[in-house]
Amino acid sequence: MSEVAKPTFEILSGSREVSADGQETFVAVSKRSEPHGPKGKVYIETYGCQMNFSDSEIVLSLLHRDGYGTTDRIEEADVILLNTCAIREHAELKIHHRLSSLKPYKRRNPKLVVGVLGCMAERMKTKLFEEEKIVDLIVGPDAYRSLPNLISLAETGQKAANVFLSLEETYADITPVRRAGISAFVSIMRGCDNMCSFCVVPFTRGRERSRPVGSILDEIKLLSDEGFKEVTLLGQNVNSYRDTESGVDFAELMYRVSLINPQMRIRFTTSHPKDISEDLIQVIAERPNLCKFIHLPVQSGATTVLARMNRNHTREEYLSKIEMIRKKIPDCSLSTDIITGFCDETEEEHQQTLSLLQEVRYDYAFTFIYSERPNTPAAKKMVDSVPLAVKQRRLAEIVALQQSISLELYQQSIGKVYEVLIEGDSKRSAQHWMGRTDSNRVVVFPKGSESVGDMVRVRIVGATSATLFGERI
Ligand code: 5AD
Ligand code: SF4
Repeated sequence: MSEVAKPTFEILSGSREVSADGQETFVAVSKRSEPHGPKGKVYIETYGCQMNFSDSEIVLSLLHRDGYGTTDRIEEADVILLNTCAIREHAELKIHHRLSSLKPYKRRNPKLVVGVLGCMAERMKTKLFEEEKIVDLIVGPDAYRSLPNLISLAETGQKAANVFLSLEETYADITPVRRAGISAFVSIMRGCDNMCSFCVVPFTRGRERSRPVGSILDEIKLLSDEGFKEVTLLGQNVNSYRDTESGVDFAELMYRVSLINPQMRIRFTTSHPKDISEDLIQVIAERPNLCKFIHLPVQSGATTVLARMNRNHTREEYLSKIEMIRKKIPDCSLSTDIITGFCDETEEEHQQTLSLLQEVRYDYAFTFIYSERPNTPAAKKMVDSVPLAVKQRRLAEIVALQQSISLELYQQSIGKVYEVLIEGDSKRSAQHWMGRTDSNRVVVFPKGSESVGDMVRVRIVGATSATLFGERI
């Protein structure tokens, strides 16, 4: 799933970084200083998608249960964990750099345990011990329950690893450790069975499995009771959610979630176009607290490229799904993911991506330069043939076009009134709030007597391609 590079990304605390090639990474650190548990303090940094952020909350919960405390000060940590991403080469390079920068901490405290979790741990397995001497611990996304034991092993000076993928693990019984806030992620399924030819995720997160519906509803009820105002349901492909016992599918799950607290906003990510159903769109249209915003990755506008990517749909089939959405939810905002410069992509195929952007008119597009990942079907059977300079030029064309479309769409909001959920101070000014519309557009407006978590009505008076400016009414 997305290095989630999505605007829905709510980073608990941290930063969003965009590198020169358009790749985005989210970096966040655990932001709580807990009382020292009997077993010492853990510091965790999270890279990659929302799924990883959600997993870090599960990891913290498992470690708390076992007597560990948490710290946001790396220098006082007994255990440093990096929860990593493998989606593009850039994501892994970042981790290698970060591991190098941790060496002084290890020199100062030879007992310090350094662990790599998540997708890069799963992809590289124990090879990572050979490449990075500083690493004591390697734990894949389905093996977090063994973390306490593995840390104990590592504390005795041994290298410890568990990268077994599971067919069942959903961590359904673990209540994640969350910071109090207004927005929470709830993982509803894990893994991916799609086998897109460019993608490493099926190898790092294993087979698709859904979490039982009861545990999802219970967790969201708890979040509502705790005062959370917004929940994002997470999975690599939420549309293929199915509770094995009751047969509840994603549309039915969304319906049941929407009833828990009709004031609570519900979002979801991420969807595969071939699986997005009419039932789901119908329920989003009917239930007011299901947000009118859909992230629907297309990857390319050319049917020929989609076939090479093994996406299992054509351009026309994708566009007919968009038409179905627009018919049922005329004001629905859309965003997408695009990979540019995939194996053998021609100029003509690139033009088709540009024309698809013009046809759909997304609010936002996350755009990536194709990065070959070892052992994926594309790496095995195809050639990463498009030169970097061509990929960069195509990326720049896509970004420029999308920006002009975003600007046009955002300017059409001027004069309209939206319900805005206040998330916090605007980045640029403590005198302004930042919030989001139901359709996930960022709105900045002057502060009054309201507070974070309030839903307020705001009239839009100005717009850039990424932000709406408004005034309270
Ligand atoms: N190279 C570039 N981008 C990729 N993505 C997934 N795999 C790759 C890759 N090998 C992008 C896709 C996906 C998003 C999360 O990351 O667009 O939807
Ligand atoms: Fe998330 Fe793993 Fe995919 Fe990165 S590789 S986006 S962490 S699922």
